[in-house]
Amino acid sequence: MLREPERAAIDRLWQRKLSQDAAGLPKSERHRNLEPASAAFLCALALGVGAKRMLEIGGSSGISTIALASAAREVNGTLISIEIDAARQTESRETLRRLNLERFVDYVCGDAIEVLPSVAQMDLVLLDCEKEDYIGFFDMLNVSRGGFVIADNIISHSLNDYVAHVRKTPMVESITFNIGKGLEVTRFP
Ligand SMILES: C[S@@+](CC[C@H](N)C(=O)[O-])C[C@H]1O[C@@H](n2cnc3c(N)ncnc32)[C@H](O)[C@@H]1O
Repeated sequence: MLREPERAAIDRLWQRKLSQDAAGLPKSERHRNLEPASAAFLCALALGVGAKRMLEIGGSSGISTIALASAAREVNGTLISIEIDAARQTESRETLRRLNLERFVDYVCGDAIEVLPSVAQMDLVLLDCEKEDYIGFFDMLNVSRGGFVIADNIISHSLNDYVAHVRKTPMVESITFNIGKGLEVTRFP
């Protein structure tokens, strides 16, 4: 589970995001972090299914990275964190280093479209990048039997095309959770 210093770090990042929103900063200057409730859910799900090989697309400054790395610690697993913005990733790395979680994270700075072809099979994947890329990235994933793909912003951005797309995949089970901005949780057969 998330430990107190991890919850505090998530809260600090979240409070900054809220003040940036309130200040009306342009999108490029705002940190679009995952909601703390979604982070707690992600951590619990990863722990519950014992996911050892995890991937996130869109790590930003690190709320989801803290959640998944914290779960990875319990099973000696690994999280690959892909982020295109080097400054955000540097901040995340520093935060995770202070939390003693950096050793569970393999940071990759780059565009996921170029990185994904070389990513091995995963037990749990978080999609939290630009919404128009979700379907293309979903189709590029190699997910293990019983593995999960979780996508954020499903309700906030009405990502009905994504939901319809994943639910067409043979044998998957998929459900939208009304947590944070809406999480689509898709389990592979
Ligand atoms: C919503 S934020 C992610 C929030 C993060 N998961 C967290 O918990 O704080 C989306 C991030 O995706 C990154 N991104 C967008 N397109 C990307 C791509 N093609 N490859 C890698 N990262 C990408 C953006 O730079 C941005 O930092």
